[in-house]
Amino acid sequence: MESHDEKLAKLDEVISEFEGQPGALIPVLHKAQQIYGYLPEEVQYHISQGLRVPLADVYGVVTFYSLFTMQPRGEYNFAVCMGTACYVKGAGKLVDKIGNEIGIKIGEISEDRKFRLEATRCIGACGMAPVLTINEEVRGRLDADQLGELLDKYK
Ligand code: FES
Repeated sequence: MESHDEKLAKLDEVISEFEGQPGALIPVLHKAQQIYGYLPEEVQYHISQGLRVPLADVYGVVTFYSLFTMQPRGEYNFAVCMGTACYVKGAGKLVDKIGNEIGIKIGEISEDRKFRLEATRCIGACGMAPVLTINEEVRGRLDADQLGELLDKYK
């Protein structure tokens, strides 16, 4: 894994490549997210200083476009659908199971950054309720025991 200084040096390279160009902010944010995996406040501040763009503008762009995230990503990102159909079919039990097995709650990331847990709204797969997405893969009709077996594979 790259050190903080190495990441910062890469980000500075990107900033100097785009500095002074109109519309530089979005490509710089995009590259910064590739370097860091997400866009924490200190990275946004550094970009704001480097490109001489107000921090509020940087923040506005980051929060407007869904492709940007201020949350660190895990190696495995679990998203439990908490829409009505999934909730009724036991989505809460899946959240509890992940909490018990991995020790993270919704919105948290494990200390080793391997797992992150989020709740989503209905993703339109209600026929498969309860639905869990792991990175891009959608898994449906999972009960807590099946989820336990699945988690063992990822641990
Ligand atoms: S409520 Fe979960 S997919 Fe629709």
